[in-house]
Amino acid sequence: MDAPSRDLRLDDFICEMSREPASSLSHERLMGLAARLQLSGELVGSRIAFAKDAYARNLVCRTPFFELLVLCWRPGQVSTIHDHAGALNAIRVYSGELTSRTFRPTRGASSSAGPVEQEAEERVRADARMVGLDRGGIHQLANTSSEDLVTIHVYAPALMELHVYSTASAVVERRRLRYTVADDLDEISTAVRETGAGFGPDGPRP
Ligand SMILES: [Fe+2]
Repeated sequence: MDAPSRDLRLDDFICEMSREPASSLSHERLMGLAARLQLSGELVGSRIAFAKDAYARNLVCRTPFFELLVLCWRPGQVSTIHDHAGALNAIRVYSGELTSRTFRPTRGASSSAGPVEQEAEERVRADARMVGLDRGGIHQLANTSSEDLVTIHVYAPALMELHVYSTASAVVERRRLRYTVADDLDEISTAVRETGAGFGPDGPRP
C-alpha cells in the first residue's frame, strides 16, 4: 500500500479545517485531512513529554474548529472507556504501538448508556493505517507494549469533556478534560520542562 501523501502543512490544515463548522464535518473528511497533515519532527518532538500517573495530553494548537494534540503513553498507561460527547476524532501513531479497543452498549442498554462490552481490539504501529472515532463511538486506548508510545490526535471540535463508561455498571460519568501541565511530568520529562522545550509555566504552549 502506498504511503499517504503528507501534503498539508499545519497552516494549510488549519485553513482546510476552517471551511465548515465541526457540526457539519464528516468523519471521512476529517480522517482524510488528518492523513495528509505534515508535522515536522521538531514540532512533535517539542510536545513529547510523559506524565507520572497517566498518559499525557500535550496541546499543539486549538481553534474554534478543532484541536491538535500529542499524547504520550508510558508502557501500561491506558485511557478510560469513553465517548467524545459528539466530537469527531482522528488518530495517527507517531511512534510505538497503540492498542485501540471499541465498545458498544450491552444488549438491553440504551445507545448512550452502560454497561458496555468490547466489540473489537487492534494494535496499530507508526505509519500504519489511522484509527478514528465517529460521533457516538465508544473506545479505549492503551499502551500494552513494552515501549513508549506517541500518538497524534485531531478532535473536531475541541474535546472539552467526555462520558466515561463501565463494563460492569450502567453508570455513565461526565468528565471534564484538561491538558497536561508541567507539574504532571515525570522525572525524565522534567528535563524537557527545564530546557523550556514545549512547556511554559502554566503547561504546554499553544
Ligand atoms: Fe478518545
